[in-house]
Amino acid sequence: MTDKPRTQTREITAAVVRKKGGPFQVETLILEEPRPGEVLIRIVATGMCHTDMVARDQLYTVPMPVVLGHEGAGVVEQVGSNVKKIAPGDHVVLTYMWCGHCKPCLNGDLTYCANFYPLNFGGAREDGSTATHDKQGAVRDHFFGQSSFGTYALAHERNVVRVPSNAPLELLGPLGCGIQTGAGAVMNGLKVRPGSSFAAFGGGAVGLSAVMAARVAGATTIIAADVVPSRLALAKELGATHTVNSRETDPVEAVRKITGGGADFSLESSGRPAVLRQAIDALAIKGVCGIVGAPALGTEASFDVNGVMTTGKRIIGIIEGDSVPDLFIPSLVELYQQGRFPFDKLVKFYSLDQINQAAEDSEKGVTIKPIVRFGS
Ligand SMILES: NC(=O)c1ccc[n+]([C@@H]2O[C@H](COP(=O)([O-])OP(=O)(O)OC[C@H]3O[C@@H](n4cnc5c(N)ncnc54)[C@H](O)[C@@H]3O)[C@@H](O)[C@H]2O)c1
Ligand SMILES: [Zn+2]
Ligand SMILES: [Zn+2]
Repeated sequence: MTDKPRTQTREITAAVVRKKGGPFQVETLILEEPRPGEVLIRIVATGMCHTDMVARDQLYTVPMPVVLGHEGAGVVEQVGSNVKKIAPGDHVVLTYMWCGHCKPCLNGDLTYCANFYPLNFGGAREDGSTATHDKQGAVRDHFFGQSSFGTYALAHERNVVRVPSNAPLELLGPLGCGIQTGAGAVMNGLKVRPGSSFAAFGGGAVGLSAVMAARVAGATTIIAADVVPSRLALAKELGATHTVNSRETDPVEAVRKITGGGADFSLESSGRPAVLRQAIDALAIKGVCGIVGAPALGTEASFDVNGVMTTGKRIIGIIEGDSVPDLFIPSLVELYQQGRFPFDKLVKFYSLDQINQAAEDSEKGVTIKPIVRFGS
């Protein structure tokens, strides 16, 4: 059933992408009030994930003009009718959207929602409507059910997660995507065991979150492979026992040597098919490789069929760290508060006016996890 549109609106300041490749343009837009089941959030800060660039550059097609941003954190301003989980004043992290009525959702596999693509990349609600416009007309929104590169965002009760009010809210947005993707891939997807070996191929926000999670999970050999020396240095600080610069050293040989035959678990987060091949080749017998890096839609990759078959290797796709956000995100906050998951070391803050700089710094490898902080 389609809810009736409301007439109340508010002015927001948001970053709009109007053409493939950007830039992000800071503009004044009009946002609707929450419909039944929806939540209006005053955004405090929003992380920038590589997937924002994937959408900006149309590697994943997203209708434009659009407000991106999918790692929002803020304070609940207003809730629509029927909202039970969340109340005004709650501190929340916004995460991916899921439908709640398809088979995977009913089975608890929220990250494999059959409607994941339209709900997260479709630039609209499930019923096709949008809540944002400028003087010319509709601006596409609901990117990851939130479009949080703005002073206010409209999400749904389902993709809003309450977090403790004593945690630093401006830091928490990335838990809604990049950080839960890396940490959850290790803890929920691969189920890395105590005493095992784990190799992260790609040491950006996702890969370094995986490194931190592997330490929490008790892996005793943790290898990070990347091409940016500063990222490798940070990987060591965060728990990597070994690092490999893939530009200088063959990472497959290096991982085999360090582990004495291959890693029990590997994770590909660079989004490059050649690196995926390395992450598979570097596995031990019965090893498991998780794929989280996102190349352009339609990208294919190759592997040695017999090499995988005769060694009983497994290759699995993992979305959003197989996370059930209402359970997993608060547990990551707790690990952070206990000093066991120091993801603040990945972060640099930017103002909304600096959002293009944030994107550039991320792509150049200067900043691992930019967070756009909104003025109070
Ligand atoms: N599956 C999911 O649910 C999910 C969720 C979030 C992000 N992603 C995707 O995960 C990927 C990583 O995201 P991120 O925010 O960490 O991006 P990022 O750009 O910070 O990280 C990518 C890393 O790969 C490294 N790299 C480049 N070439 C390499 C090579 N040859 N060998 C090893 N490393 C190499 C880069 O230096 C960088 O550190 C992106 O593709 C993003 O779109 C997927
Ligand atoms: Zn679903
Ligand atoms: Zn993301």
